[in-house]
Amino acid sequence: MKQDNIYPVATMPRRKREELLGQRALMIWFTGLSGSGKSTVALALERELHERGRICRVLDGDNIRSGINNNLGFSTEDRMENIRRIAEVAKLFVDTGVITVAAFISPTCSMRELARDIIGADDFFEVYVSTPIEVCEQRDVKGLYKKARAGLIKEFTGVNSAFEPPRNPSLVIDTSSMSLDRCVEVIMQAIGERIEKR
Ligand code: ADX
Repeated sequence: MKQDNIYPVATMPRRKREELLGQRALMIWFTGLSGSGKSTVALALERELHERGRICRVLDGDNIRSGINNNLGFSTEDRMENIRRIAEVAKLFVDTGVITVAAFISPTCSMRELARDIIGADDFFEVYVSTPIEVCEQRDVKGLYKKARAGLIKEFTGVNSAFEPPRNPSLVIDTSSMSLDRCVEVIMQAIGERIEKR
C-alpha cells in the first residue's frame, strides 16, 4: 500500500541504547518444521543469554499467533503477512538493543528473505533447525502431524504444504543428533562477538 502524508521521525540512535545495556543487538532467526525443536532451543538460548547478563526476547509462532497475528491462517499469503509483521516487530526490538530470537516455521525462502530485508542483513543470523521430518512426526508433541495425515489440517508444513530448506543459513542444528546444551553452545559460539558491546 502506498503511504501518502506519512513523515517518520528519527528516534534516538540504537547505539545509545546498546551502550546503556552493554551489549549489541542481534536477530537470531530460527526456521524449521513444526516439532523440529525451534522453540525449545530458543528458550534455552534465552536462559543462557539471561544468565550471562544479556537482555533477550523470544518471539514464538504459537504465542504471536495467539495475539498480534490471531487473524492469520496458514495460506501462503497469511504466512507471508505473519512473517512480515513479526519482522517489523523484531526490528523494533533489535533497534531497542535487545538480542531477539524468533522461532517461526517461515517455510519459504521468500518469507525469510522478506524478514532479512526488513531487519537488515547485517543484523540477521539465520539458524536452520534441520531435524528430519520423520523425527518431528514421531515426536508429534502437539498431535498435529497425526491430524494432518488424517486430513484434518489443510496446508500443514511438511505434509501438504512445502518447506524449503534455507540455501545459505548462518548455522544448521539438528536436535535429533545434538543435545539441547550442545545446540545452545554451538549458537553461543557462533554469535560470540556479534553481541559484545561495540
Ligand atoms: S509460519 O509458517 O507462518 O511461519 P508459525 O511458526 O507462525 O508458522 O506457526 C506454526 C505453528 O502453528 C506450529 O508449530 C503449529 O503449532 C501451528 N499450526 C497450526 N496449523 C498449522 C499448519 N497448517 N502448518 C504449520 N503449523 C501449523
